[in-house]
Amino acid sequence: MYAKITGTGSYLPDHLMDNFELSEMVDTSDEWIQSRTGIKARHIAEQDTVVSMAVSAAKEAIRNAGIEPAGIDLVIVSSVSAEQILPCAACEVQAAIGADNAAAFDLNAACTGFISAYQVAAAQMKAGLIRTALVIGSECLSNLIDWTDRGTCILFGDGAGAAVITCQDSNIEVPFVLHSDGAKGAALSCSSGFGAEKSPYGNHIFMDGRAIYKFAVKQIPQLIHEILEQSGRSVEEIDLFLLHQANERIITSIAKHLQQDISKFPMNLQENGNISSASIPVLLDDLNRQGKLKPGMKLIVAGFGAGLTWGGMYLEW
Ligand code: ACO
Repeated sequence: MYAKITGTGSYLPDHLMDNFELSEMVDTSDEWIQSRTGIKARHIAEQDTVVSMAVSAAKEAIRNAGIEPAGIDLVIVSSVSAEQILPCAACEVQAAIGADNAAAFDLNAACTGFISAYQVAAAQMKAGLIRTALVIGSECLSNLIDWTDRGTCILFGDGAGAAVITCQDSNIEVPFVLHSDGAKGAALSCSSGFGAEKSPYGNHIFMDGRAIYKFAVKQIPQLIHEILEQSGRSVEEIDLFLLHQANERIITSIAKHLQQDISKFPMNLQENGNISSASIPVLLDDLNRQGKLKPGMKLIVAGFGAGLTWGGMYLEW
């Protein structure tokens, strides 16, 4: 059994906020942001919500996969920034796209969320419970940002990405590796706004940037070695490493650790910023639409973020 991606889609809000616009809001500059992060601009939602963006990305992925919504067995939305708690975003998406036969639920594992959701779908396929899943990462992080905090507001953006995943009869194994370290959770935190007085955290995203940087550059190379070992592949055999689009310096450092050319690490963070759980499916869709993913290509996909959480998988396109 192999849980294969058979369609992708994405949606980004129209308003592209560049570093110059940001530097009119906080004491920063295009030069500082680009040199520290690689980010030039990010999309910011005005009317869009986590659900509306998820629906747009999902419709595209369904079209790309060439399936009928009624054929979907499971809808998972990964998000940390939904405007509402009940009903969950996945149920709203299910109704909007007409996936009448699907079960639906949300999942929160921050920037690792798309990987976690994919693993849940693949495990259900392996157990014989489902054949087709729609996995979506959708984030409206502008809801959670303190727009006076130059340490965080420069990093994040809004958007959604979706993938249709189909159970294929094949002997390819998809190794998944997921890790968490809740003891370090305070490094990247945000209360929900509901009962916030009981939370030790503030009601905007707080980040210890240096701690997160060190965590990512240490754990992700180790994670990739774990995935390689489980998939029986060497690092040289991997065509592309699709990493959570947090920061160009983090990705460059990981490429150096692995002694792999940076051209094997495609990036779109320059135009999108960090869109948490949407970042990987948006990148997958960009590459798919540009025809850069060829049948049989070997990919390692990995995410990391709040929790702390990190995880990845080996895929063949
Ligand atoms: N513009 C100008 N100056 C700034 C800005 C800004 N936007 N932000 C901070 N500074 C200043 C600080 O005030 C500090 O000034 P000081 O020396 O006078 O005190 C100086 O720049 C250095 O600040 P640091 O925070 O130490 O800057 P650093 O070099 O560590 O870069 C950054 C900050 C870019 C956030 C870096 O730590 C980083 O990339 N961390 C990882 C962040 C990340 O990727 N998070 C997301 C991953 S998880 C997820 O996706 C949810």
